[in-house]
Order: sequence, then C-alpha cells, then structure tokens
Amino acid sequence: MPPDIIPPIDPPGPIPSGSVPPSVPARAAAARARLDALWARGTDFLGCRYAIMGGAMSWVSERHLVAAISNAGGFGVIACGSMNPDLLAAEIAGTQALTEKPFGVNLITMHPQLDDLVSVCLNAKIGHIVLAGGIPPGTAVRAVKDGGAKLIAFTPALVLAKRLVRSGADALVIEGSEAGGHIGPVSLTVLAQEILPHIHEVPIFVAGGIGRGEAILAFLEMGASGAQLGTRFAAATESIAHPNFKRAFIRANARDAIPSIQLDERFPVIPVRGLVNQGTKRFLAHQATTRDRFNAGELTKEAAQLEIEHFWAGALRRAVIDGDIENGSMMAGQSVGMVTAEQPTAAIIAELVDQAAAALAARQP
Ligand SMILES: Cc1cc2nc3c(=O)[nH]c(=O)nc-3n(C[C@H](O)[C@H](O)[C@H](O)COP(=O)(O)O)c2cc1C
Repeated sequence: MPPDIIPPIDPPGPIPSGSVPPSVPARAAAARARLDALWARGTDFLGCRYAIMGGAMSWVSERHLVAAISNAGGFGVIACGSMNPDLLAAEIAGTQALTEKPFGVNLITMHPQLDDLVSVCLNAKIGHIVLAGGIPPGTAVRAVKDGGAKLIAFTPALVLAKRLVRSGADALVIEGSEAGGHIGPVSLTVLAQEILPHIHEVPIFVAGGIGRGEAILAFLEMGASGAQLGTRFAAATESIAHPNFKRAFIRANARDAIPSIQLDERFPVIPVRGLVNQGTKRFLAHQATTRDRFNAGELTKEAAQLEIEHFWAGALRRAVIDGDIENGSMMAGQSVGMVTAEQPTAAIIAELVDQAAAALAARQP
C-alpha cells in the first residue's frame, strides 16, 4: 500500500474543548499503533515484527548476529561475501539452528559462483535474497524469482529503481553515501527525495547513517517501508567482531568515518567508507608509488590498477576477526558516532523502536 493512503490512526484535529486528553499509556499505545501502520508494508514483506533490517556486513553478519536481529523482531541478513557455496550452506543451517524467525541472505553479484549460491539459498528455503554490488544479472533474478524467493536489490538512482522494478525486484534498498562499506556518491537525504515519491510498486528500505529511531520515523513518513542499519549492529554483544574492532567503533565520531581517497583519475578507486587508520594512510602512499612506477614504465596500466585494487585484499577480515584495527579495513558508516557502548542486539532494536514511538507520542495532544 502506498504510504500516502495509510489511514491515520490518531484522531485528526484538536481535541474538542471539555474532552479528557488521552492518558500517557494510551498515548504511547496509539504511537505504537501508528508506527506499526507506518511500517506495515515493510513488516508484511519481511515477515517480522519491526521493519528494521540488519544490513549485511561481510565477516560480521554471520549466524550469531543475524539470528539475534531476527529473534529481537528485526530482520537479519547473512553476508555471503566471498564464501563458497558449502560455507554459505553451513552458515544458513547454523543460523536456522539459532532462530525460527525469517532472515535473508546477501549475495554479491560479481561472485563467480553466484548461480550456485542462489541455489544454496533456495534449497535452504531462504525467503529473501539480497543481490548487492551492482545491477543483478538476469539469470540470477530469474533463478531467485522462479525459486519462489523475494528479490531485494540496491538502487543508486531513480532511473535504475524503475528498471529494477520492471525486471522483477520485489523490494529496493536505497543506501546513501553516509553508509559504511562500499558507497555511492549521493546522500540518503537526497536519494530519499529523489526516489521515495516516485516508486510505489515495491517497498523501499532506507540505509546509510541511520542511528536513531527518530530518523527511521522521518523516512517512514516520507514513504519508506523500513530501514536498514549496519554500523549500529557491528558492535552488538552478539557480533563476533574482535573486541578491538568494537572498541574502535565505540570511540569513533562521525567525522572519523571517511571514504577512501583516489589519488589519480587514471586509476579509479571504488569509494569505501571506514575509520581512518594507518592502512588508509598507507593506501595513499601505495597509490602514489604505483602511479610513479606506471609513469616510469615499470608497470602496465592494467598491472598498476591491479596493484591498487589488491591493497585491501583480506583487509576487512584482518580488522573484524583478527582485531588489527590499524592495518585492516575498518568499514563504518557516519552513524558510528551513535555507537556508544556494546549493547545486546535486542536492546539496540528496542531503543530504535522506543525512540520512533516516543517521537510520535510527543506530537499528540
Ligand atoms: C563492516 C561493514 C561491512 C559491510 N559489508 C557489506 C556487504 O558485504 N554487502 C553489502 O551489501 N553491504 C555491506 N555493508 C553495508 C551494510 O549492509 C549497510 O547497508 C550499511 O552499513 C548501512 O549504513 P550504516 O552503516 O550507516 O548503518 C557493510 C557495512 C559495514 C559497516
């Protein structure tokens, strides 16, 4: 249902003089009901209590965090990353052993075994498959749909949103440049205005820089069906991220999470937002040395590009699992400033829901 035709639950207009204002508990209950109505399309689509998706984070979004998010009423998503089909099958089975609630799987479109990974998901009766990292190939889209799963895709612009809906996407994620990990150039504030008023065919989930319930509420009121958060869950108690990784998130401010910098336009660097560390500084030096070697004729252009791309190979694992927060890749969104403690996943979700509901309740007469 398009959000503009959701019927208002609160009585419109001022309370007639002489009538008794609603009690605090009644106001809170009405706010919860309004919130439930605002994200009903998202909760119906995902099959969960709250339309809060745990954004897939490679190495972080494995069985424990994913199950914790789904058990708390949100929607956890396994990050397949570079896992092979056997590893993914084991991760799905491990997650199913920890929760009976629905959860999804995020697959990267350029994975060389994408079709096999889709089959693994379908065999395990995964209901929602997220295809990330580029426009999903037609074969994968058909396989997901023919297999009976719902397809969730990312869109970086309105024109692509329309194309994805035409080609069968059942829901879209719009992720602003505030997000952690690989990012596009446009903020969620702008993407939301560009896309939400024009796409009503499928539910849309917003992502990037979201750290509080009031922000979720604002995007629901603009027409989103739910939100996807990554960074806030990375330091959750159930996250297997190394204590060093979690401590760095708790210490960091929004301004510490910056996109990777490209030194030379001849050698493109896909922007990745993360915490500044020795690795990000060495990456700049590495680009400079590689460019100089290319200029001196020591490397071909292709070899130089590969040298630059290989710099970060294995770096996210180094940070998340090994705890090497100086040389690893510390992918984090600007919302990292709102990570202030290691909290149980259920407490994070309850806090987000409470903030959204409290903002609604405060408006009522
Ligand atoms: C450590 C980290 C790893 C991530 N890995 C992936 C990934 O493998 N696939 C993906 O689609 N998005 C990935 N993301 C993006 C998240 O799914 C999510 O969209 C993003 O974190 C939302 O923005 P936020 O961090 O401001 O909440 C990653 C984000 C982080 C912080």
